[in-house]
Amino acid sequence: TVIGVLASGRGSNLQAIIDAIQAGRLDVKIGVVISDNPEANVLKRMVNYDIPSLCIDRRQFSSRQDFEAAIAEELNIRHVELVVLAGFMRILSRYFIDRFEGKIMNIHPSLLPSFPGENAQQQALEYGAKVSGCTVHFVDEGMDTGPIILQEAVPVLEDDTVEALADRIVHAEHILYPRALALYCEGRLTVAGRRVYITDKE
Ligand code: GRF
Repeated sequence: TVIGVLASGRGSNLQAIIDAIQAGRLDVKIGVVISDNPEANVLKRMVNYDIPSLCIDRRQFSSRQDFEAAIAEELNIRHVELVVLAGFMRILSRYFIDRFEGKIMNIHPSLLPSFPGENAQQQALEYGAKVSGCTVHFVDEGMDTGPIILQEAVPVLEDDTVEALADRIVHAEHILYPRALALYCEGRLTVAGRRVYITDKE
């Protein structure tokens, strides 16, 4: 399976995916990495790898649709079969989602449907939740609302800061996202309405 990764920031989840591929735990090819942020650390990481990467800057397009069309075109040129959002800080419109129907995944740092949107770790801490975690889900038009593929819980500790909780969650993310991608690539995910069924390995 050829994946295309969209990322806006640090790129630690992309790193975990690359590491899983190199360790032989994940059988995918990264066709392209696209960032919407020219300053993103994720692009700096990519100089170490022989993987096509580029920036598509929203500010260079007059409309959201033109911006998304440019991303879609790049993904198609690279024969991308699954779009992997890894810290991509933009909501994709129906226009883009229609082009990759059922073929877009995201990871979110909470146990959805709790704490969608930005600053999920801070939301969990401020709410006083005793557990939080991360969720890999298919992407629909909503904000972190698509069908859930995998979730992993982590405790919220009494002396937690946002940073400490975020570190604990992102560590779980680095294990969860490659696992979800492997399930997809092995053809083991079936979506029925909101539910995603995972079939056993043959
Ligand atoms: C992660 O916490 C992810 O859940 C959220 O954005 C963050 C990305 O981190 N969507 P990184 O860029 O992969 O390090």
